[in-house]
Amino acid sequence: MKKSIYIVGFVLAGVALFQSCEEQQQAEPEKTSKLKMAEDSELALLMRQLTEETEAIREAVMAGETHPLWERVQELHTAIPTDPASSGPVFEGFSEAFIHAVREMESADSPGTKHFNAVVDQCMACHSTFCPGPKRRIAKFYISE
Ligand code: HEC
Repeated sequence: MKKSIYIVGFVLAGVALFQSCEEQQQAEPEKTSKLKMAEDSELALLMRQLTEETEAIREAVMAGETHPLWERVQELHTAIPTDPASSGPVFEGFSEAFIHAVREMESADSPGTKHFNAVVDQCMACHSTFCPGPKRRIAKFYISE
């Protein structure tokens, strides 16, 4: 009885670890060692923070309140990804576009839904190319106008 609970626990932990870029796909083949998967990349950690901030900023925008915006966006340029393919000029282009949208919101006289949704557009744009897994989750951030 106890044993099966442990097994369920392991399976759930495995699912959580593979949350990142894959969506419905099965766990990657053996060659990606468990050790490697267990460690979150700098970029994955940064993304988690960006996501938490997005949630808080969204709440504030909807309540018509001000809130500090995404803090560590510059780190997009340096954070090491899980997959080395998530780098290079195209990735840089998406990073720049995202940071630009954040700066636009920062410099707006009255930052609101439009600015916020423009930032979410940039999360989606990069994710369409580099990491489709979380797209459904990100799409939920849009505030309907
Ligand atoms: C320039 C490209 C780019 C932008 C912009 C971007 N992401 Fe990501 N995101 C990635 C990549 C690549 C990963 C995979 C990170 C890794 O595993 O190393 C990722 C991972 C994630 C994850 C999964 C993290 C985990 O737990 O493994 C979430 C959630 C996420 N991003 C949400 C967002 C949100 C929300 C935004 C906008 C506020 C955003 N992303 C903007 C490229 C981007």
